[in-house]
Amino acid sequence: MIHAICVAGARPNLIKIKPVIDGLESLGAKTTFVHTGQHYDEAMSGVFLHDLGLRQPDRSLGVGSGTHAEQTARVMVAFEPVVDELRPDVVVVVGDVNSTLGCALVAAKSGAMVAHVEAGLRSRDWSMPEEVNRVVTDRVSDYLFAPSADAVANLQAEGYRADQIHLVGNVMVDSLLTNLDKAIGHDTLARLGLRAGHYALVTLHRPANVDDLGVLGHLIDILGCLAEDIPVVFPVHPRTRARLEDLAVPAAVTLVEPCGYLDFVALEHGAALVLTDSGGIQEETTVLGVPCLTLRDNTERPITVTEGTNQVVGRSPERVLTAARNVLSNGWPKRCPALWDGRAGARIADVLVGGVPQRRLRPSDLGAG
Ligand code: UD1
Ligand code: UDP
Repeated sequence: MIHAICVAGARPNLIKIKPVIDGLESLGAKTTFVHTGQHYDEAMSGVFLHDLGLRQPDRSLGVGSGTHAEQTARVMVAFEPVVDELRPDVVVVVGDVNSTLGCALVAAKSGAMVAHVEAGLRSRDWSMPEEVNRVVTDRVSDYLFAPSADAVANLQAEGYRADQIHLVGNVMVDSLLTNLDKAIGHDTLARLGLRAGHYALVTLHRPANVDDLGVLGHLIDILGCLAEDIPVVFPVHPRTRARLEDLAVPAAVTLVEPCGYLDFVALEHGAALVLTDSGGIQEETTVLGVPCLTLRDNTERPITVTEGTNQVVGRSPERVLTAARNVLSNGWPKRCPALWDGRAGARIADVLVGGVPQRRLRPSDLGAG
């Protein structure tokens, strides 16, 4: 039976890796859960282990925060000896964060196969660090697990072999569907004094939105206008928290700490509208049938627009507020992409355990040294 190292580093990775670990273990595979420590606060990591029922990591790399180069390099330096020692058959990485890239690069130069879960997503916006991470991780991966047909099309257009590409659905949705009833049973809304269907939920953490005080201040002004129509609740990511301290946030915009997973899913489920720059939240709102406005110029998840509840509205106050008021008055159609059904982790495990290994071409395959 295969041995898979399953890697997570940042908040959304924990949500994505759990169904893969479960799927592999249910088929009898051995898994080693590695947490790089890219996110480390209790509110960004520990609470997710608890809420998702993830065991404590088998290996914690403790890399912490830093510049892109520092963080990616620390991930690589800390992960290499783990791979050398454990000699896994496959290393599974998820998503598009620096930990994904660092571990994929290390694994690609080891004897292990590399599996990328959430392969093929493209924003075509090279100013996003995640776009670099996605493209490079796909390039060094043997197994490309795509969440949607558009991701498959991107991979085909980039010339990947058909036998590397597996359309498996969305692991984020697996976790959402597994935990939805438990989340709805939480008293989250009551604790925050919110009524289901009568508030807007906001998250912002993309560098393009929050690193520049002018841009963030402009977005906060928009939220202040929206709060005249409907209560606005905003769980604040640590990257954003530091910048908000230098801005006057209208009292009608309720800032709260980052939420645990179950609390956040409860908030999404009860929201009249979600405004976000998150990737995963565009997907979750689609499955929940909750309208989502993405405060960016593009998305790597266009399927949530064409087959979901998402609209990409940029940052112009007129456009955002018009879209918000339209959704609040008229609602938005509920649709869900194919295979976003809670079985992605099982499909991935089937391929990894049962499939014939598909290797990238290596120099040795070509007869070189
Ligand atoms: C990272 C990912 C991003 C993902 C996001 C999920 C990259 C390049 N970025 O962004 O793609 O959408 O995670 O949330 O990998 N911090 C804390 N406590 C923590 C973690 C971070 O205070 O537990 C603070 C630190 O000041 C840190 C900053 O947040 O410098 C940014 O953290 P980092 O992991 O570098 O990037 P994110 O913005 O979280
Ligand atoms: N999330 C959460 N608490 C919060 C904000 C988000 O549990 O306060 C969850 C959310 O349900 C989703 C994931 O975190 O599953 C998205 O992570 P994030 O927005 O940090 O990263 P991205 O998806 O943009 O990479």
